[in-house]
Order: sequence, then structure tokens, then C-alpha cells
Amino acid sequence: MALILALESSCDDSAAALVTSDRQILAQAVVGQNEAHRPFGGVVPEIAARAHVEILPTLIRQVLNEADVAVGEVDAIAATAGPGLIGGLMVGLMAGKGLALATGKPLIAVNHLEGHALSPRLVDTDLDFPYLLLLASGGHCQLLEVRGVGDYRRLATTLDDAAGEAFDKAAKLLGLPYPGGPAIEELAADGDSTAVALPRPLVGTDEPHFSFAGLKGAVQRVVAAGDHGAADIAASFQQAVVDCFVDRTRRAFVVSDAPSLVVAGGVAANGSVRVALQQLAEGEGRRFSVPPAWLCTDNAAMIGWAGAERFAAGLVDGLDAPARARWPLDPEAEKVRGAGVKA
Ligand code: KG4
Ligand code: ZN
Repeated sequence: MALILALESSCDDSAAALVTSDRQILAQAVVGQNEAHRPFGGVVPEIAARAHVEILPTLIRQVLNEADVAVGEVDAIAATAGPGLIGGLMVGLMAGKGLALATGKPLIAVNHLEGHALSPRLVDTDLDFPYLLLLASGGHCQLLEVRGVGDYRRLATTLDDAAGEAFDKAAKLLGLPYPGGPAIEELAADGDSTAVALPRPLVGTDEPHFSFAGLKGAVQRVVAAGDHGAADIAASFQQAVVDCFVDRTRRAFVVSDAPSLVVAGGVAANGSVRVALQQLAEGEGRRFSVPPAWLCTDNAAMIGWAGAERFAAGLVDGLDAPARARWPLDPEAEKVRGAGVKA
């Protein structure tokens, strides 16, 4: 049994966790920075980095105390090294290196996307490789075949905005607070998802790519026209995203015969998304797995679990491991028109 101390600081959540290779979370803590960024309607990178400096050390102490573990008792230190906002990544990775240096334990530089990708295996003991993964977060929207630890084949990506980014932008247009995903989901519960006609970009095309910029533009026009209430717009927008997810994932089943479908990343916390993809998987005869909502949004338990999986595979990193603003899971994936612009 290996014990991993994990740190996460790639965006606007500071997090620490103690995770074991036999799937126990001994302690974990996440502190978001929503209030600090809210006046700006999105994450301000420098504010985020400064907040990680202030919060992260306290969280590390907190999880060690809570689990009654001395830092020297851990087997490895896992820290998110990318992709994400470079300032925050440098804070967390450097903290991880400091701990590795002080304890003499190995450092594991974890890809945040691999954290999301492997997170369902932390709670679903029967989820084996390979599986088809819809990874939908604030920075990404991809369909990947997860073949093993560190072994990913990207089948599709967004040509423009990430899925969570689309939720955040639509929320801003509706005057809802950041982060937009939970705010839209709450408002959508009171709306009619068929009230507003919105586009489903790329639906029906062969390659299972995504596009959300046109959907945002359509929401902008509907809000400006003033003919519909906010709840109906929110519900119709959410339904449009769900329809895109379902159609694109169905297309991915044509090229991947992986027996399971997994949804992960912050947008996978959305109830409508979870239900629709479960129905799709069952209809296609595939097993469905989605982590609990708290494990979908950013946290350090998933980084600890990815660290545990990498540690078991003998994949540890040197103290010279770089922080990487961009770090694709599938380095062989071809550039798609319009894609890859964002971290
Ligand atoms: O994975 P995550 O916590 O951070 C990144 O790695 O990006 O994802 C954050 C994104 C945000 O865009 C947020 O609006 C979205 O996930 N999100 C949701 C929900 N909860 C978070 N989107 C839709 N419905 C939700 N319930
Ligand atoms: Zn994330």
C-alpha cells in the first residue's frame, strides 16, 4: 500500500489530499477562490497564483493533521504540473518539490487531465482499461480512449471554446455569477428546455469534434432580443450542450469499441449531462461510470489517485520536472482547425 500526498493548483482551486493506492482518501481539503475572481467574471491568473501561495501550505498541514500522518511517512508527493495557469502551477509544483526534497521521497508531476481521466477508478473498483472518456472541464472538451496509465488516444476535441467555458460565458450573458456551470444548472431547473431554439454545432458530422462558440453567439442574440426569460434560456442552453455531448459521444462509439463510457471534468458534475450520457451508454450496451460531483470539479484526491497509479507503474519524476501551461494527454493527436489555442 502506497500513501501519496497530493497538491492541486492549476486553476482557481487550491487543494491537498492524502490518498492511498488501495483507494482510501485519508483526508482532503479544497479551497476555491470564487469570491476573489467574481468581480472580474472569470479567473484572473495572478490573483489565482497569489491565493495559492497563501492557502496551499495551510491545506497541506491540515490534511496531514487530519489523517494524523507525518510528512515523512508518505511514499511520494504528487503535484499538478500542467496544463493550466502557469503561475498557480509553479506554486503547487514548487511546493511539491520542496516536500520531496525535504522528505527524500519521489516527486510525481501529474497531468491535471490525467487526474480527471483516472478519477473514476478511485471510486469505481470495477472500471478497467480501456474506456471512452468524455472530458469536459473549464479548459477542455475532448473524447479520449483511455488505454492505460499514461496511454491516451484523443478521438476528438473542441474547435473553439471548452464546454465549461461555454457554460461560464452563457452565464455571464445571463448576468449569473462565476462559475457559470452550477448557476446555469440551478436556473435551468425552473426553465423549459424547449422554449428557445438554439443551434447544436457540428451535430451529425462524422468526426466527433465539438464547437461551442456559435452556441454562445446564439445565446447572446437571444438575450439581446429580450423575448425569453433567463430560466428558459438557461434550460435551452444546457439542453443544447447535452445534445452535442450525446451526439458526439455516439459518433465516438463508431471508432472506439471500449466497453465503458466515463464522463469526467467539472461539467460532469451537471445532473442533466450525467443522466443523458448514462442513457446513451446503456442504449449502446456500454458500461457507464461517472465520479461523484465533488470528484468531477477540481480537487487533489484525483491528483493523488493519478499519482498512486503512476507510482505503481514506476513513473516518478525528477526535481527538474517543468510546469507546463499546455500538456496534451495524447501528444500524437493532430492539430484540428481552430483547436489547441487554449491551454
Ligand atoms: O474541472 P474543473 O473544476 O476545472 C478545470 O479543470 O477547468 O471545471 C470547471 C468548469 C467550469 O467551467 C464550471 O462552470 C464547470 O466546470 N462546471 C459545471 C458544473 N459545475 C462546474 N458546468 C455545468 N454544470 C455544473 N453543475
Ligand atoms: Zn479540472
